[in-house]
Amino acid sequence: MNIAVIGTGYVGLVSGVCLASKGHKITCFDSNEITINLLQKGKNPIHENGLTELMIENEKNILFKILNSSTESNLKDFDVIIIAVGTPTLKGKTDLSQIESVAIMIGKMLKNSEKYVSLILKSTVLPGTTDTYFRNIIENESGKKLGKFGLGMNPEFLREGNAVNDFLSPDRIVLGYEDLGTLNVLKKIYQPWDCQKLELNTRSAEMMKYVNNSLLATLISSVNEYANIARELGEIDFKKVMHGVHLDNRWSPLKKDGTKIFPEILEYLRPGCGFGGSCFPKDIKALSSLAKETSIKPNIIDSVIAVNEGQPHRIIKILEDRVKDLSNKRVLILGLAFKPETDDVRESVSIKLINLLDKKALSISAHDPIAIDNAKKFLDPSIRVNYIDNWQIELDKADIIIIATKWSIYESINKLSNSLSEKVIFDTRSMLDPDKFDIMNYLSVE
Ligand code: UGA
Repeated sequence: MNIAVIGTGYVGLVSGVCLASKGHKITCFDSNEITINLLQKGKNPIHENGLTELMIENEKNILFKILNSSTESNLKDFDVIIIAVGTPTLKGKTDLSQIESVAIMIGKMLKNSEKYVSLILKSTVLPGTTDTYFRNIIENESGKKLGKFGLGMNPEFLREGNAVNDFLSPDRIVLGYEDLGTLNVLKKIYQPWDCQKLELNTRSAEMMKYVNNSLLATLISSVNEYANIARELGEIDFKKVMHGVHLDNRWSPLKKDGTKIFPEILEYLRPGCGFGGSCFPKDIKALSSLAKETSIKPNIIDSVIAVNEGQPHRIIKILEDRVKDLSNKRVLILGLAFKPETDDVRESVSIKLINLLDKKALSISAHDPIAIDNAKKFLDPSIRVNYIDNWQIELDKADIIIIATKWSIYESINKLSNSLSEKVIFDTRSMLDPDKFDIMNYLSVE
């Protein structure tokens, strides 16, 4: 199919490239000229495993164009327009300004076109956005009713760092539609995929995305709260507690051979320093704010947010309980990205920890294999951080080492320095084996 994708962020770019790899003819549009110039040269503005290779392999199926005033007439050529622009949070509410300007442009294009085009939202938007907000703009601008154009909602379930794999081998594909023409279009787009495909209205598709993310975030905040209670009570081996909980067959079913399956979901049931990224914090706040427009008080969702916002403070408290005075301590933060395999630092707990440690610690150094440049943009320039390339050398200089991102390279920490026993190692991601450290200098949230 001949498909336009508007927006070349994580979602739009990965979707465009993966759809091109299945033989669709894709044109990706973005208003950011720097991004488009890079992409036209075969370079990738984001770090995503396997994306550049797939993009180059399929270059004959994919074009990159700047989104500007001439885009409106260009859009007439497509059978499908997928919208994957950003939906950030502004004062606790979803900012739909990017969706709005794209909708106005498409509506104007439709006014002067007789062709049926399916408009499919891929951006994460709250229930009702596609069938009411977006549809109204399109109908008002075009003077046409739904049916003359098509409307769909096709949420993504892509994890940053694993997004290409998640797109090419999805658990399910959600085909949200408001007209049968669009359902058929969606079926055609995803015909090369052999997985469960769910057909439902656009509101249900939108809700599914929020429930999926909110439930995962709920698991993380719940287990963090249990760990916090256990630590305050004292003399509780929380690692063992959670191991026992995980062994419940309902979490980890028995296979026929008597061994257990430990599903990936258990990873969300380990205590840590809280969740971050561009999705969970934004999505659950948006769902809470939408719920408050109804008669439902989102008690659980609000608690998930509160526990998560408190977790970086909790980390500093645990550290101060052990170290007492930070003012003469050199702190090394290992990991700046919000999770491994990405250079994204949006809502990263590492950044929050640096903000809290500023003015408390004697000095702060920080390492990340790929996210230092992004961290520099996000951190207030008045905060003094010594960014380092060689973290192994820095180990000897630091008094406190905080592992803040679960990069696998940090697993080798105990082999890299002879002076670790003189330092505090705070494993906020519970990624190291505590038995390999002196109990006096190993610190964790468990
Ligand atoms: C999340 C969802 O997992 C995707 O399904 C969804 O499509 C995406 O949001 C989105 O809305 O676009 P992502 O934010 O990339 O994807 O990453 P996750 O791996 O789910 O991690 C989210 C946060 O939870 C991170 O801060 C991570 O450190 C934390 N996390 C994740 C944990 O604390 N423990 C874990 O076991 C996994």
